[in-house]
Amino acid sequence: MEQIKLKNVDETVSRMALGTMYFHTLVESKKSKEILDFYVDQGGNFIDTANMYVSWIKGFEGGESERLIGEWMADRKIRDQMFLSTKVGLPMKDVPAGLKKDLIIRECENSLRRLKVDTIDLYFAHREDNETDLEETLEAFDILQRQGKIKYIGVSNHRSFRVAEANTISHLKGYPRFTFAQYRYSYLRPKPGTPFESLDDTRMHATEDLLDYINQNDMNFMCYQTLLSGAYSNGDRSFPPEYIGPDSDERLKVLREVTEETGATINQVVLAWSMQNKMKAVPLISGSSIQQIKENIEACQIELSPEQIQRLNLAGN
Ligand SMILES: NC(=O)c1ccc[n+]([C@@H]2O[C@H](COP(=O)([O-])OP(=O)(O)OC[C@H]3O[C@@H](n4cnc5c(N)ncnc54)[C@H](OP(=O)(O)O)[C@@H]3O)[C@@H](O)[C@H]2O)c1
Repeated sequence: MEQIKLKNVDETVSRMALGTMYFHTLVESKKSKEILDFYVDQGGNFIDTANMYVSWIKGFEGGESERLIGEWMADRKIRDQMFLSTKVGLPMKDVPAGLKKDLIIRECENSLRRLKVDTIDLYFAHREDNETDLEETLEAFDILQRQGKIKYIGVSNHRSFRVAEANTISHLKGYPRFTFAQYRYSYLRPKPGTPFESLDDTRMHATEDLLDYINQNDMNFMCYQTLLSGAYSNGDRSFPPEYIGPDSDERLKVLREVTEETGATINQVVLAWSMQNKMKAVPLISGSSIQQIKENIEACQIELSPEQIQRLNLAGN
């Protein structure tokens, strides 16, 4: 896998990041480590997790994914080669939701301990917290950065005006600035006004104005749910209803045409599109088998022509 130079930070990472949300829970520990080893063998070095993965599944409380990564990195003695992102702000056992200063500082310590590291490369505000001033949140990140506990900060699931407001505060106060944005983003587009674009759902699809803001401000864009949980290729799995709108049939038709032309799989075309369209995203790939991860990584070898990208972009307009 090719390495790319990130924007606005002096770091190089692999073209695709590995999402580890269900590692050590739905994907059992041995398989999770096999997938991590495979990803690294393929040249991957960008691993994404969160403090609360996965507190919402019965029998688990959060922290499982971070713990597994910590164990795996220590065992493989591989920490120095990795670029590691984790998140704070969603609830887990004994931890409320939110981005208050004390909570962030406490949770960062907990993540460092579970991950068995001294520094988190990239620390995300996982979800907007309307009850806390952005300034308080950014002050916490500033303290942690000064202490060497985090290197960079990122924003996830915040509305665009809040991201802009945060970056203005950082500029005025000399606090760290959001240089990464992580959002739900796939080839199928959501119907405008569906609840998950509001605060009813933690997952927010990247809207056009947010994407413009990210590009104009040279932020690094990471996308999740790009494969919509495998629905593009798995006939038994339906697309989330929010993604079925007036343009979906046309977009799926063009996506299938381009897939046929490239000889790649439909998942690979979706991932290639995410990396090669104007957003130049770093997609978060994941899966429960080596075969899925292999297929996803091989999307890096698919070159879409400018005409194919334009056709994909214009479908359904
Ligand atoms: N910031 C946030 O709020 C947020 C939210 C969600 C996720 N994330 C991050 O994004 C990562 C990716 O998660 P996601 O749910 O967004 O990913 P996704 O790509 O939409 O779905 C991943 C699932 O799709 C299936 N899949 C993957 N590759 C496949 C392939 N080649 N063929 C067929 N099926 C395939 C697998 O399902 P099966 O295992 O069931 O086969 C896999 O578990 C997470 O691990 C996490 O790090 C962040």
